[in-house]
Amino acid sequence: MKKGRIFSGMRPTGRLHLGNLMGALANWVKLQDDYECFYAVVDWHALTTGYEDTSMLRQNVREVVMDYVAAGVDPERSTVFRQSDVKEHAELHLLLSMITSLGWLERCPTYKEQLQQLSGRDITTYGFLGYPVLMAADILAYRASSVPVGEDQLPHLELAREIARRFNYLYGTVFPEPQAILNDVPVLLGTDGRKMSKSYGNTIQIASTPQEVRTAVQSMITDPARIRKTDPGHPEVCTVFGYYKAFAPELAAVRENECRNAEIGCVACKRQLADVIIDYLTPVWERRRTLETDPGALDDILDRGAARARSVAAATLAEVREAMKI
Ligand code: TRP
Repeated sequence: MKKGRIFSGMRPTGRLHLGNLMGALANWVKLQDDYECFYAVVDWHALTTGYEDTSMLRQNVREVVMDYVAAGVDPERSTVFRQSDVKEHAELHLLLSMITSLGWLERCPTYKEQLQQLSGRDITTYGFLGYPVLMAADILAYRASSVPVGEDQLPHLELAREIARRFNYLYGTVFPEPQAILNDVPVLLGTDGRKMSKSYGNTIQIASTPQEVRTAVQSMITDPARIRKTDPGHPEVCTVFGYYKAFAPELAAVRENECRNAEIGCVACKRQLADVIIDYLTPVWERRRTLETDPGALDDILDRGAARARSVAAATLAEVREAMKI
């Protein structure tokens, strides 16, 4: 018996990186054992900030699905699909927009932040303001009980609960209030020691080659106070050490001692880290390659996922229309 139903999604803005893998996808994979899982690639959400150039959108959906499956999301056990294949999300978004207060959306901290951060792009649009309503529709269309997300998404989830409560109060109870399952705190920094982010160009893609992994690891920032190999190091400020903790926790303890006692140099430490990451990624790469060489299999995953998602979302929408007397 499953513990409940899960919905989560990522925007198709390009290939995923090791931060996505260790922070979110590894968690999604584990949750498949205990929950009925719906994992979407939310292409409509990608439009909210990237509506001008959509030339890569379809390809990016495929890249992200390949990254999901490569990470271990199993399309036989979980429903893997593209948001825009299930029009019920759009209908529910419209209906929920009727009961969503503008104040809730304008006060949303992520909205205010993004308006400032993405000041180069014009995102003073209706669609962008409604981002959390679309996200609520994603979750509520499946009446998901739990939503694995990063901490940055908590305000959106709070809004989804607010909208669900409002709907239930006005029209009768249709929706459970979805709870967050927090993804593991990301310990992986970008290769330059800053937050891992595509816009900084400091990521390592899941779909890297072994040589790309080696080059990226060799370029990682280590303890700046450690100039000679004989200087004791400070793993707590070292980017490389964070990767050891994520990919090989037992080995991390060993490395920590060696580093503090100046028994290993950064070059050797990095070389071994690259080996560890490559070992970890080898089965991931194999699963990805299977799909890269068989586009029909990927189409199949998307088709079957869409059909399964649609049937669940359609049942919810039938209840929603009934409740609202549409
Ligand atoms: N907003 C999420 C993000 O940027 C993506 C997302 C869209 C999502 N709809 C969702 C996540 C529903 C969880 C549930 O990461």
